[in-house]
Amino acid sequence: MAGRERIRLLCAMFLVGACAEALDKPPFDSTGLEDVLASGDEKADRFLEIAEQLGAIAVGESKLDEAFVADKVAAYEFVEQGQGAQGALDLAVDSADADPVLMVYGPRQDDGGFPVRIAKDDDSDGKQPRLVGLRLPVAGTYLIVVAEYDRAPGHFALRVTRSIEQSPAPAAPPSVPSPPPLPACDKPVVSMEAGGHNPGMNCMMCHQGSNRFPWTIAGTLYADANGAVPLSGATIRIVDASGAETKLVTARNGNFYSTTAVRYPLTVKASRCPDNAKMGVTITAPGSCNAAGCHDPGRRLHLP
Ligand code: HEC
Repeated sequence: MAGRERIRLLCAMFLVGACAEALDKPPFDSTGLEDVLASGDEKADRFLEIAEQLGAIAVGESKLDEAFVADKVAAYEFVEQGQGAQGALDLAVDSADADPVLMVYGPRQDDGGFPVRIAKDDDSDGKQPRLVGLRLPVAGTYLIVVAEYDRAPGHFALRVTRSIEQSPAPAAPPSVPSPPPLPACDKPVVSMEAGGHNPGMNCMMCHQGSNRFPWTIAGTLYADANGAVPLSGATIRIVDASGAETKLVTARNGNFYSTTAVRYPLTVKASRCPDNAKMGVTITAPGSCNAAGCHDPGRRLHLP
């Protein structure tokens, strides 16, 4: 921070008339850099254009042999992802031929501005600014500014690293992502029923009228449209025209059947988690799912 002192010293030595002007002249834009450094909340608007020009810097990155640009300033955007959860930052500026000042502004506001300066360092390591253990308060975009205090031309190197040892208590272990919710389905049931006989046949050819078991609906469920493998333990939900629901479980041979009185037409769903199937059309009397033209060979009722 020797700039003004140096000018004063030179002025005292040589009594140059321009000195008064040099001392009065703000060393930086309309505001003196000293004021910028002192105020702590100087707006960073003047740096935005430069940051646009120079781009961004990330953790682990170095800007080597960078030259100060307009107004002897360099500025870079820095994006902090996780509210400092990954650890604090170490910022270091080194220069052989300049007297740099390091400042951090942010986070960026909705209007695109960086109204608050949150950190600065000038000479903490000789003339080399350092910000060690810097924790950015919230996730967002910050502005890292390197300014030449004396407004002299020069070059510098900027490094951004993460100080692992300063990281806070490890964040809670990432929760195991829960699987997407299954569509409502019926859990498989272990069926004790053998299921009688004639799987795949048109049950109502016989199970009507004088048959002791006049089914109101009956059929066979398979694991495939060709009917090679019966599917046991699935739930068949039948809703009749009056809204009454009947629940059947497919037997070991895939058959299902009911003597419950129903009002046709019927809406039918078959389900065995994770599979669901709903019949797009309703079933009319006599409720024989395996009837010719319905779930006959080649287009068996099946899940999935
Ligand atoms: C060719 C005629 C015929 C066909 C087709 C037929 N059944 Fe049967 N089924 C019968 C007869 C007859 C009985 C015995 C009735 C009795 O005991 O009086 C019977 C008995 C049953 C029983 C035994 C009931 C019990 O509790 O003893 C079940 C279950 C059954 N049938 C289911 C079916 C299913 C499901 C279908 C279609 C996939 C079907 N049947 C197709 C004629 C048939």
